[in-house]
Amino acid sequence: MRLVVTGGAGFIGANFVHTVVRQHPDAHLTVLDSMTYAANRASLAGLPADRVEVVEGDCADPVVTDRLVARLTGPQDAVVHFAAESHNDNSLATPWPFVHSNIVGTYAVLEACRSHDVRLHHVSTDEVYGDLQLDDPAKFTPETAYNPSSPYSATKAGADMLVRAWVRSFGVRATLSNCSNNYGPYQHVEKFIPRQITNILTGVRPRLYGSGANVRDWIHVDDHNSAVLAILERGEPGRTYLIGADGECSNLEVMRLICELMGASGAGSDPGFDHVTDRPGHDLRYAIDASATRDELGWQPQHTDLREGLSATIGWYRDNRDWWEPVKAQVEAKYARTEKVL
Ligand code: NAD
Ligand code: TYD
Repeated sequence: MRLVVTGGAGFIGANFVHTVVRQHPDAHLTVLDSMTYAANRASLAGLPADRVEVVEGDCADPVVTDRLVARLTGPQDAVVHFAAESHNDNSLATPWPFVHSNIVGTYAVLEACRSHDVRLHHVSTDEVYGDLQLDDPAKFTPETAYNPSSPYSATKAGADMLVRAWVRSFGVRATLSNCSNNYGPYQHVEKFIPRQITNILTGVRPRLYGSGANVRDWIHVDDHNSAVLAILERGEPGRTYLIGADGECSNLEVMRLICELMGASGAGSDPGFDHVTDRPGHDLRYAIDASATRDELGWQPQHTDLREGLSATIGWYRDNRDWWEPVKAQVEAKYARTEKVL
């Protein structure tokens, strides 16, 4: 099996590469990554060079993408398309890279797969569905109408629509997945969970946007990737699969849990963290109904205890300071330009 993994030096893509190398001794992977600020070559350190090739390039560049996709000639070969600009806060400050990577990038990947009749799995997010009210009994299903809120989710929604159109109009053998918020090792310190963990590790107070009432449906990155592998193995081309692990939790609850697990809960009336300026247009709640994916593919998430998963993730950031420390101060300086303590 040969796979081209776009965005394989980012958080989820790098974890995917490690998992495939471990679980599929016959697999060869080519990582295509433009090495933006979100990539880290160290996330791929120690992998066997004869099985993992890293190509620095932009997936929106049709020449490089076509060249790599053309090599996928075996029946199990596929492109797994993780590459994207992925951070909502950045999309509010500078939307253009999101249009480029998420929409133009996906277009180039689709055209290469169309030219060479190569199987594609497109990795997307539950954020394309917009948000739910806190008391809404409904969760997102594959039938939920798209209603994205931010430049990030709008460009991911645009990419999904291109994939669906290329399936219908050109017969491209593509599957899609929309997953909820991931956490785990190798996640950039700009994101909620690693930001708070590394703030505590560097003596900076954790930062909660607004009141912290917003709910995210957390899933461990290994569970996301086991679902992607199940879709590659057993998914039906043209279908959309929702991936989630019933991990709904408010940001306030997650923050309190991180502080408790790290012995940083504060004292008296001090919770140990600051409430800061809320994100403009901040989606209130995401929640995934993954029952169809579970039933049809026989997939089950394994890391459903958030306390356990967070403890392990905290341990990883404690043990791997070299991986995140070089960019930490710069990330906090960027946030400090707009964030005000409430
Ligand atoms: P990330 O930002 O950590 O990594 C993205 C990677 O893509 C980086 O290595 C970056 O260099 C690369 N990249 C960006 N533009 C590129 C381009 N034009 N060409 C080649 N490489 C490019 O993101 P992530 O959290 O690992 O997310 C991966 C995918 O999963 C994205 O498509 C994202 O929308 C989706 N997703 C993420 C989450 C989450 O919670 N992080 C949840 C659901 C879906
Ligand atoms: P984030 O990790 O940026 O993911 P997303 O925007 O894709 O959900 O943020 C997760 C939640 O945490 C989101 O509701 C915003 C909030 N948040 C904070 O409260 N503080 C922070 O420092 C960050 C980065 C995010």
